[in-house]
Amino acid sequence: MSPPSDIFHFPRPREAKHCLDLLESGAAQALVMFGPRRTGKTRFLLRDLAPLSEAHKIKTIYVSFWQGHDPPQDVLAAEIERRLSIRTPANLQQLWRRIEASATLKSPDMPGAPSGAITLSAKAPAQAKRALLQLDVLFDRACGARGKALFLFDEVQQLALSEVNSPFIAQLRTSLDKRSGRALAVFTGSSESGLHAMFAKRDAPLFKLGNRIALQPLGGEFIAHQHAALAQRGVRVPTTKLTNALTALYRRAAEFELFRNKLIGQATPDADSALKETLAEIADFHGFPRDWGALAPIHRATLRILADGEGQPYSEGALKSIGALMKSQTPSAPTVQGALRTLQRRNVLQQFERRGAFSFVNDAYPGWIKLRPLSAFHDD
Ligand SMILES: Nc1ncnc2c1ncn2[C@@H]1O[C@H](COP(=O)(O)OP(=O)(O)O)[C@@H](O)[C@H]1O
Ligand SMILES: [Mg+2]
Repeated sequence: MSPPSDIFHFPRPREAKHCLDLLESGAAQALVMFGPRRTGKTRFLLRDLAPLSEAHKIKTIYVSFWQGHDPPQDVLAAEIERRLSIRTPANLQQLWRRIEASATLKSPDMPGAPSGAITLSAKAPAQAKRALLQLDVLFDRACGARGKALFLFDEVQQLALSEVNSPFIAQLRTSLDKRSGRALAVFTGSSESGLHAMFAKRDAPLFKLGNRIALQPLGGEFIAHQHAALAQRGVRVPTTKLTNALTALYRRAAEFELFRNKLIGQATPDADSALKETLAEIADFHGFPRDWGALAPIHRATLRILADGEGQPYSEGALKSIGALMKSQTPSAPTVQGALRTLQRRNVLQQFERRGAFSFVNDAYPGWIKLRPLSAFHDD
């Protein structure tokens, strides 16, 4: 039941089997998979894990919480219904492909995509309550009389951005707990602090629900696979060049695909120029140069210390570093607080818990910021 072939797709059968083994054996009822954006999580769920799970006669339902216009209970209910209406393996394959295509379109990094900060909208309370109860019934239908169902919840940290989602998350937990061993789940998220807010804090709504896992970072096997696929297309480049490019592109599958398409398009393949073009295109695509141009030194310097991993931007050391970058007096904590709020408003930073850590909305931004020369942080 494998999806239509795509010679550049790098399958991950061992990882899929490992996940399913953990879930089926009862070693874990749920898995929580963290991974940066564009590293291949959604693909893994839809092309590797879902087909394997279905081959084991487990009904598999994929839901992404990225785009927040409909209440999450409605989105989930619709996906369960959609899966239950499917009868043939071929139709199932088509469904996964359609979902993958729309997940890519809706992905946070596409131009015109909704910003991650949009919160999920509320319904009238009574109506919302009914939808939540119906969800529990749908879980039974998904599992079948004696069967199992696997729920793939993608971009789940988005739920943590609004209090409005609390009843849904609580219901989700109840519905899963009630069917322990039968309703299985994989939660994925692209924000470490978002997942922390949902799974790790003592009072987190999904506290201790799942075992943490991560996809293997793309490495030698991926390169060998891409090298062979490129050769099939008549494009011959040394493996070392591909390895260099993967490293320079932060091991992101999506970025590597851009690079690969450039190589394929060149009359004579030149990995160095293809990489250079790709890097420039990525920065441009994300709008980093434009956004950066609109920031004052205090914002830039604050972003820089966050990019360097500073977790306490109001600490004495952090304030000093900000001042040094700006080549001015050490700013006060309220000044930096104001800068952080502005950066949140402009959707550069996000915060999943009150008084929690700030994280970059676009996780490609810190890498770009670290490449700015020191002169970019102060007025002349
Ligand atoms: N296993 C893979 N083999 C080849 N390309 C991949 C693979 N996984 C992902 N990609 C590429 O990276 C892009 C982003 O993958 P996606 O699964 O959407 O990432 P994430 O969900 O982690 O943000 C895909 O559209 C595809 O171009
Ligand atoms: Mg994804």
